[in-house]
This record gives sequence, C-alpha cells and structure tokens, in this order.
Amino acid sequence: MNAPFRFTTCRAGSEAAIKRDIATHFRGELTPAFMKPQFITWKLRHPEFQPPPTLSHFARVSGISLGLCKSISEIVDHARKLSPEPFRLHVFPRITPEDGVETATWQRIDVLEADIVRALQLAGIAVETRPSYAPGDLILDVIIGESDEEPFFVGYHEHHEGAHTHPGGVPRISLPDDVPSRAWLKFEQALAWRGWDKLDLRGQTALDLGCAPGGATVALLKRGMHVLGVDTGEMDPRVLQLAKAQNVRFDHWRTAAGRLNLTALPQEPALLLCDINLAPPEVLPHIARIQDAIQARRLILTLKLNTPALEDRAHEFIQAVRRIAPAPVFATQLAANRREICVSCG
Ligand SMILES: C[S@@+](CC[C@H](N)C(=O)[O-])C[C@H]1O[C@@H](n2cnc3c(N)ncnc32)[C@H](O)[C@@H]1O
Repeated sequence: MNAPFRFTTCRAGSEAAIKRDIATHFRGELTPAFMKPQFITWKLRHPEFQPPPTLSHFARVSGISLGLCKSISEIVDHARKLSPEPFRLHVFPRITPEDGVETATWQRIDVLEADIVRALQLAGIAVETRPSYAPGDLILDVIIGESDEEPFFVGYHEHHEGAHTHPGGVPRISLPDDVPSRAWLKFEQALAWRGWDKLDLRGQTALDLGCAPGGATVALLKRGMHVLGVDTGEMDPRVLQLAKAQNVRFDHWRTAAGRLNLTALPQEPALLLCDINLAPPEVLPHIARIQDAIQARRLILTLKLNTPALEDRAHEFIQAVRRIAPAPVFATQLAANRREICVSCG
C-alpha cells in the first residue's frame, strides 16, 4: 500500500504559502497533519493517490514520512525496511536561519550523523557516499530539532533532477563579512543547488540585472567571469577593485532594465542573472525581451513574491519562464531566499 504520510521542509515563514499551494494544487488530497516551524507532515486522503516527488516550490525537501524517533536504534529499525541499499543518509537541522546554519549546529549534527552511520554499519546496513547523485538514489532524511530532547523526524525520498543534493537543501556556505550584500549567498546557493559551482566559468560573460550593490557580482568576478551589471542604483566600490585584482571586466550600465539597448548586449552569455526587486508581472516581460535578444545559456532568476497573492501565482510565473528560457527549468526556495523563489534554467 502507498505510504499514508508525506513531509516537507521549508523556509521560516513559508509554512502558510506551502499550505495554500498544496491545498490548491492537490485539491485537498493532502492535508496538514503535524506541524513545527519549517516542517509539515501531510496525510493522504486517498491511499491510492500518488503525489509527485516535490510537493511545492516552497518545499526544500519533500518525501515519505516514517515518523518520529526517540533514539538512533529506532532510526536503524526504519532503515532496515528501506530498499534498495545502499541508500544515502541526509542529517540536517529543522531550523535553517536565512543567513546560514551556525557552525556549532553543524558540529552537533555531525556528531549525531557519525553515531547513526556507526549504528547502521553495526546493523549491516550500507550507506552510499558516492559524491555524484543519480535519479532514483534513495535518501534517508533525519531531521534534527532544536534541542537534544526533541525526537528526530525520519523520512525518505528519491533523488530526481532539480532536487537538492545537500542535506536539507542547505549547502554549508556562510556569508563572508566582506561582500557587498547577502545576494552573494543566494547566488552561491543557487549554483550549489544545480551543481553549477563545479563549472569552470573563467573568461565567460554574465549579464547581472539588478546588480547593485554587488553581492552576486562579487561572486561572479571571483569565479573569473566578465560581468555586465545593470542597475539604476550604485555599486559598492569593492566591486570595481575586485574586477581589477582579478583582471576581468566589470561594466555598470546605470539604467533600468526596460530601457536597455538590446543590440549592445553581449550575445549568448554563459549566465543571465536577475535579482531586480520588482514583482514578476513587471520583471518577467523585461527578462523575456532581454533573453530573446541575447539567448543566455543559463539563467538564475530570483522572483520576488512579496504578497500572498504573488506567492499563489508561483506556478504561473514559472510556466512563463519555461516559455522563454532553455530547459530544464527548476524552481525552489533556497535557504537564503526571503519572500522569493529561485528559478534556474539551462
Ligand atoms: C535585491 S537588490 C539586488 C541585489 C544585488 N543582486 C546584489 O547582488 O547585491 C534589487 C535591485 O534591483 C534594482 N532595480 C529595481 N528596479 C530595477 C529596474 N527596473 N532595472 C534595473 N534594476 C532595478 C534596485 O536598484 C536594486 O539594486
């Protein structure tokens, strides 16, 4: 029989959006069962209903719920029933602050993970550690609460294209003190999500729409890219200094995206970024016009969903991106995203 419960993890504050999204999208087939901040389980109304692997763009991880466990031996009991082996083990915190999980929290989690791996090995259960993921890889998710007293939550999911490979969808990247904005972290997390952090982008060109003050631009320049930034606002002076130090080009067109001279833009840039703080109905026509003119090979778009009404239109906006951008197109709410989602294409 189909497993009767699912689980989702999400950003702090997106619980309401995810509930509305799942209620609308699955027409009541999944109803919220157990809730904690950044975590919801869902009961299937009809056991034969087969939901897709990702329940919502607002969910960082979706999977099949196995329930609460008070001890590692209970986790091992669940793991014994999972097949095929070996499966991967993802241990991660339920609470994921938007500026990154603290080192002390990861240290606590690493100790627990080592204990779980040891207990699994003692029980003769193999854990997969190959770095590259393949669709269908089975992942046992162990979600850790805020205190040692809180039981673990355990579930599992299958890896699929566009799903996060970092446990909980939270890469261990922290925001450096010397970058102009936290958009640096959003961009680095977007690269890590798609595995694009492994690409050699040196000498290639990026068009960065809504680039000021320059957090993402700094990340691009550090990767050795030439950057054309577009923003009506001012850049942090460190951006130009970094471009000089890296021996790469940085140009700033201080104009609105709607007023660009399309014929002067670089053709087929390796990356098109957009982090303009306009709502999708305003910004998507600009992106469509620009992408039509330049045919960027990959896109990383931050869609601002600052109201419940915009959050409820997320599917429509992602469909609009699919019509203009290279496939595949995936959307997620990154750990560093606020009221926005990241759509990556190509
Ligand atoms: C969230 S901030 C961008 C942060 C930036 N990506 C970074 O890495 O630091 C949004 C930016 O969009 C810019 N913006 C708003 N409307 C714009 C438009 N029509 N064209 C270009 N930039 C615009 C704002 O000036 C602001 O700097």
